[in-house]
Amino acid sequence: MKLGVNVDHVATLRQARGTSYPDPVVAAMLARHSGCDSIVAHLREDRRHIQERDVILIKETAKAPLNLEMSTNKEIVAFAKDLAPYQSTLVPEKRQELTTEGGLDLIKNHNKVKASINKLTKVGIRMSLFIDPVKKQIKAAKDLGVDIIEINTGKFSEAKSQFSLAKELRKIKEAVSFAKKMNFFVAAGHGLDYENIKQIVKIEGIEELNIGHSIICRSVYVGIVSAIEEMLNLFKRK
Ligand code: PXP
Repeated sequence: MKLGVNVDHVATLRQARGTSYPDPVVAAMLARHSGCDSIVAHLREDRRHIQERDVILIKETAKAPLNLEMSTNKEIVAFAKDLAPYQSTLVPEKRQELTTEGGLDLIKNHNKVKASINKLTKVGIRMSLFIDPVKKQIKAAKDLGVDIIEINTGKFSEAKSQFSLAKELRKIKEAVSFAKKMNFFVAAGHGLDYENIKQIVKIEGIEELNIGHSIICRSVYVGIVSAIEEMLNLFKRK
């Protein structure tokens, strides 16, 4: 199972004071050094954390594939086309939200998603779609011609009772097994931490996890290298 480390929250800390540090570019280099497989960064329309300069430099220096999370906004799509990251993951985006609140609705947003995929694949970018663990969304991803999906683990991560935790876990398991039958490369992420990851790594078929907030938070205490090593240790399926 591969690990993508999301460095958005390093930029959040920098933007809070308008300083030049901490630098997500340095974090990306250290993350790669710690053994992660890719770097994830979300260039939001409001630029609240990651800036253009960050992803340009991460792509140049981190020596790890860059997975650019992005909306279908025309200006962002045009930037991504020029940047040509290894991969783009399309996500929904709302200005008011604290973080991505759900998966992208591929049925409601079919035309915008299709247009973005067409533009980005033309320059050789691998495409992934961040969706909820719902069969009709997985089918819609197939119809859009992509090979990679990222299952939103947000509801599972936020579950407040054992009952809803079990329900959300079941939905993820069913979605992964359905997606594998359709030959998708299956990633998952959102809200995963050092505790809840233990149930997710047991799910056969998930090939990559993208994790940000919990790793960057732990880095404050132990440093990013140790925080990533600890997470990678939990990846070993028991
Ligand atoms: N995957 C996607 C598609 C996301 O939008 C995010 C949050 O930016 C993550 C993974 C990482 O989520 P978290 O920061 O909660 O680990």
